Order: sequence, then C-alpha cells, then structure tokens
Amino acid sequence: MLEYAAKILAGARFAIAFTGAGISAESGVPTFRGANGLWKKYRAEELATPEAFQRDPYLVWEFYRWRMKKILRAKPNPAHLSLAEMEELGIIKAVITQNVDDLHRDAGTRNLIELHGNIFRVRCTSCDYRENLKESGRVLEIINSKELPRCPRCGSVLRPDVVWFGEPLPRDALDKAFDLAERADAILVVGTSGVVYPAAYIPYIVKEHGGMVVEVNVERSGITPIADVFLRGRAGEILPKLLRLVRELK
Ligand code: OAD
Ligand code: ZN
Repeated sequence: MLEYAAKILAGARFAIAFTGAGISAESGVPTFRGANGLWKKYRAEELATPEAFQRDPYLVWEFYRWRMKKILRAKPNPAHLSLAEMEELGIIKAVITQNVDDLHRDAGTRNLIELHGNIFRVRCTSCDYRENLKESGRVLEIINSKELPRCPRCGSVLRPDVVWFGEPLPRDALDKAFDLAERADAILVVGTSGVVYPAAYIPYIVKEHGGMVVEVNVERSGITPIADVFLRGRAGEILPKLLRLVRELK
C-alpha cells in the first residue's frame, strides 16, 4: 500500500496536500473531534461559533488562549517536515490546510493555503483592524491577560482571526484551494475527519476531475470512501516513510 501511494505521488504531474488537525496531533495540539477533542466539558463546535462569542466572549477567549498556549509550545513534527520536503523536491505543489496553528509554515512549507485562518492573528469585531500577534510581539500579552483584548483603533472587542462554524471561508483562500484541486492529478490527505464543509469538498473535487486520492489517518474518515489508497497510521510515522519511497522513485 505504501509503495502504491509512493508511485501515485512520484508519477503525478501536479500533486497537492490537504491537512487537518490530525497532522498536528503528534506535536501536542489537540484535535477537534474524538476522545482528545474536548476542552473542559465543551466540544469545539460549541465554542467556535459567532453565537458562543456573542453569548460569552470571555469563555471563547479562554478557549482560544488555551489553544494558543498549546500551539505556541508545539513544534512541527516529521509529518509537517516531510510535506515541506516534498514541496522542496517538487513532488507536491501546495499544502491546503484547515489548521490555524502555523506549523506548516514553521516546517518550511511555502505555498500554504490556510482555509480557516490563523490563531496568531486577531481582528476587530467592528472595524477592519487586523493584527498578526507574532509580528507585533503581543502573543504572550494576549495569552496572559484575563481581559477581553480591545481594538487599538476603535476600542471594540478583538476576536481570533479564525473561521467559526456558520461563517464563510476567506474568499481568496477558498478560490485558490478549489483552483488547485481542479488542476491536481493527485492529493495527499492527512489527518482530517473530512466532515467540515466546504473544506472537505477539496479531495472530492480532485477525484471528480480524475485525480488520485491518497489518505493517511489513524481511522476512517469522510474522505476514506473515495480514497484510492488508505494508509492507516500516525502521520508522523507514515509521511517520512512515504517521502523516502517517493524520493527513490523520482
Ligand atoms: P478533526 O479533529 O475533526 O479530525 C482529526 C482527524 O485526525 C481525525 O480523523 C483523526 O482520526 C485524525 N488523526 C488523529 N491523530 C492522528 C495522527 N497522529 N495521524 C493521522 N491522523 C490523525 O480535525 P479536522 O478534520 O481538521 O474548523 O477538523 C476540521 C475543522 O473542524 C477544523 O479546521 C476546525 C474544526 O472545527 C474550524 O475551526 C472552522
Ligand atoms: Zn476596531
């Protein structure tokens, strides 16, 4: 199976990758669903919504501060690094991610499409103020504060610049992702439950256009029914092996 997957990727003219929270699990970032997907008594779906933020912005900010703290401590794992290396070798052309954690960027991936925003950015709930907290050096200040972060321009509450349930995805990222999916003749899907749309359409678009689907996951997902190869296991273990094989074939 691993050999077959390597053959698909090595032989592809235009391969892309599509990732979800599972690729960062081995870096210590909690996934959204499954046993480790709970924060206190809440499920992510109950907190990552505009309604939850309106009802209790303190609670939602507490959740995001907890995630930011986890992510800040996390380092890219061999799965992120293998994808960056595959891009370097010209095997994959882009990484489309649902993750907000920056670990693909830290690993060196260059052509990165972030469908769900980035947890280290904030934006104003009233005006068009945006801030990249890593660039402004305010990550720790925001994590350690107990107050709601405020817009320096208008004083309104700032929110994480991530996509919540029921909100549209950033137009340019989605357009780019769909365009890549239409052109791709192979897609490597890693660590996503494949149940959150429109992101989960991406492997389906590749498949509809005649492309091959290779999936890596510890369990079956919403993508598995269309996978040409399903590699069951941890991303941090499988991707380095896959990289080694693809390299030999190239
Ligand atoms: P989920 O938490 O839904 O799914 C994580 C997937 O990773 C599951 O299918 C696991 O089986 C798999 N997994 C866990 N550990 C793994 C490992 N070590 N190696 C390989 N696979 C592993 O995360 P996403 O699919 O990313 O949206 O969730 C999609 C979206 O729902 C997220 O982007 C987020 C969430 O609500 C927003 O924030 C808008
Ligand atoms: Zn403002």
